[in-house]
Amino acid sequence: MSTDSPASGAGSATTPIVKLTDVNKHYGQLHVLQNINLEVSKGEVVVVLGPSGSGKSTLCRAINRLETIDSGSIEIDGQVLPEEGKMLAKLRADVGMVFQSFNLFAHKSILENVTLGPIKVKNMKKAEANKLALSLLERVGVANQKDKLPAQLSGGQQQRVAIARALAMRPKVMLFDEPTSALDPEMINEVLDTMVGLAKEGMTMIVVTHEMGFARKAADRVIFMADGQIVEQAAPEQFFTNPQSVRAKDFLGKLITH
Ligand SMILES: Nc1ncnc2c1ncn2[C@@H]1O[C@H](COP(=O)(O)OP(=O)(O)OP(=O)(O)O)[C@@H](O)[C@H]1O
Ligand SMILES: [Mg+2]
Repeated sequence: MSTDSPASGAGSATTPIVKLTDVNKHYGQLHVLQNINLEVSKGEVVVVLGPSGSGKSTLCRAINRLETIDSGSIEIDGQVLPEEGKMLAKLRADVGMVFQSFNLFAHKSILENVTLGPIKVKNMKKAEANKLALSLLERVGVANQKDKLPAQLSGGQQQRVAIARALAMRPKVMLFDEPTSALDPEMINEVLDTMVGLAKEGMTMIVVTHEMGFARKAADRVIFMADGQIVEQAAPEQFFTNPQSVRAKDFLGKLITH
């Protein structure tokens, strides 16, 4: 499909968008990522579950190179994430990230929050960036808020702006780290609906969430982490109805009784 020459290094249609090979990371004595092997195909939606402290956020942050790793490799669409430099900046632009806290620029308008990346990192002309931003804000349902400041929006609206901002970089994969856990309950669904829409459009996604409804509805695969390891992975129905490991059974049992 890609018209890029092989020299550009872009992966073929079958190249995983994200590939982790024997990834290890320590925080001092803590072996926070232990021999992680993971491939995510184009268009695949992977939900990452696991108890607090199991390494889910660290995994996301490593894929976006916000954290270094000690050994192993991480490839984005066939290209190894380098330690630093221009190539890192380019590959990082391929990975969109949405966090629990929205991290919007407080003193910039909603529109500017979305156009900033394309203008600064991709050298897009302002008019073109505005057009792109408006279409993305439209898509996440907040185009009518474009001239406001982030603080003038609800949490759910801000998180949808954060999603639009990440999409404006035309990422190959979107990482979500508990995108709804800081939201008031009535705002959770508007953000999840936006994410379900993205999944349906074929976006490759890795989603850390406690929203089991989302996992059942949108995930192709559930990954269960505990103590820095991928303990189990399966299709959502299979995982929820017939977890294999003691850790996963325990985790799901606690969810149901709460
Ligand atoms: N910068 C850091 N320095 C030292 N230890 C850290 C650091 N970041 C995380 N850790 C530790 O690494 C482990 C994994 O943390 P991580 O945030 O990846 O877990 P998590 O699965 O995302 O948990 P939660 O569900 O609570 O978000 C935890 O024990 C945490 O205390
Ligand atoms: Mg976390």
